[in-house]
Amino acid sequence: MAFRDGEQVFYGADPAELARGDPEVAGALGDELDRVRGRLQLIASENLASPAVLAALGSVLSNKYAEGYPGGRYHGGCEVADRVERLAVRRALELFGADHANVQPYSGAAANMAAYVALLRPGDTVLAMELSHGGHLTHGSKGNFSGRWFDVVSYGVRRDTETIDYDEVRELALRHRPDMIICGAAAYPRLIDFEVFRGIADEVGAWLLADVAHEIGLMAGGAVPSPVPHADVVTFTTHKSLRGPRGGGILCTREVAARVDRAVFPFVQGGPLMNVIAAKAVAFGEALRPEFRTYAAQVVANAKALTEALAEEELRPVTGGTDTHMALVDVRDLGATGVSAETACAQAGIVLNRNAIPYDPEPPRVNSGVRLGTSCVTTQGMGVPEMKEIASLVAQAVREPGAITSVAERVTRLTAGHPAYPRG
Ligand SMILES: Cc1ncc(COP(=O)(O)O)c(C=O)c1O
Repeated sequence: MAFRDGEQVFYGADPAELARGDPEVAGALGDELDRVRGRLQLIASENLASPAVLAALGSVLSNKYAEGYPGGRYHGGCEVADRVERLAVRRALELFGADHANVQPYSGAAANMAAYVALLRPGDTVLAMELSHGGHLTHGSKGNFSGRWFDVVSYGVRRDTETIDYDEVRELALRHRPDMIICGAAAYPRLIDFEVFRGIADEVGAWLLADVAHEIGLMAGGAVPSPVPHADVVTFTTHKSLRGPRGGGILCTREVAARVDRAVFPFVQGGPLMNVIAAKAVAFGEALRPEFRTYAAQVVANAKALTEALAEEELRPVTGGTDTHMALVDVRDLGATGVSAETACAQAGIVLNRNAIPYDPEPPRVNSGVRLGTSCVTTQGMGVPEMKEIASLVAQAVREPGAITSVAERVTRLTAGHPAYPRG
């Protein structure tokens, strides 16, 4: 517990309390810490939040009901909740320079749903990136509200370059006259030209939604360009490259601010998770510091180094490289599938995920690619030399099933030298 002048100023997130109150859950959480520390974390959508972020999550604000927005709540006792939410919003605006920010979305998917609600009516037409070419479920998948309730037309990437075909996007926009165009993806390692998308949206009178769930931290750190000056609405997550708590957020223009707020609450969500909003405020505060700019630049430099080293190991980078935190590689030249590569890596203590590559001949549960991200390992202090070692470990695990034990030993040495959550 934290004290100031003999007074207790923090209550919660006490591991000793958890161990006493619920040894079973405490044991599971201890095992999770061991898992994170002992393996290489290369899931592109994950990061390692700071102890300050984790402390805010485990605070008494978890208890507070605060339906509504600061200054206009439907519950009493919200003065501290208001202060915290205003702080989070102020920091988000300072970081991203938008007219308006909503920090209440529970997740990236909830933020996207709110964006649809704010700008569209069911049955409207949406132009978005095809899931199998890197788009997200909320960009029109039939198993998701977006594909069920909206008329979705998809654009893909070119077969030769595996990059977005802006001519095709424009052609589809002119033909289908969408009400909204979505740019942004879950598995696309290149920069997206938001200005070109804005031009196309203007040509056909469509709203432009930029879903930068993945890259938002790189934008915060100035390592890649921001869509804020171009998009009507920008949705993001706070737990990926931004390194905050699991959650979402929305930035938008003044014109649609009230619609976005009403879409988040009361349309899509109920009471906001105030402890998570406090943790978002902490993460925005961390991202405002100069060290975060260094971090974001290193994440991208590491991803480039990792991608180049994987290419030397015959793991072909989709699009030929990366501009972000992400590498998407085709594993077929090593005689593997996405799922066999993911399994071999898992056995060696390397955590990554299989992923479709554009025009993938394999079905979705098999895939021909794996997706790797450098956000976690960069948080652990790894740099370019370690990326070369990681590429060699991944390639050996995929190529030589008999070498798993020796790869696992090298993984242990690497993570021991750059521990996640170092022991105090
Ligand atoms: C582009 C994109 N949008 C939205 C989401 C959804 O985020 P969440 O898992 O927080 O709902 C993701 C998550 O991976 C994503 O990659």
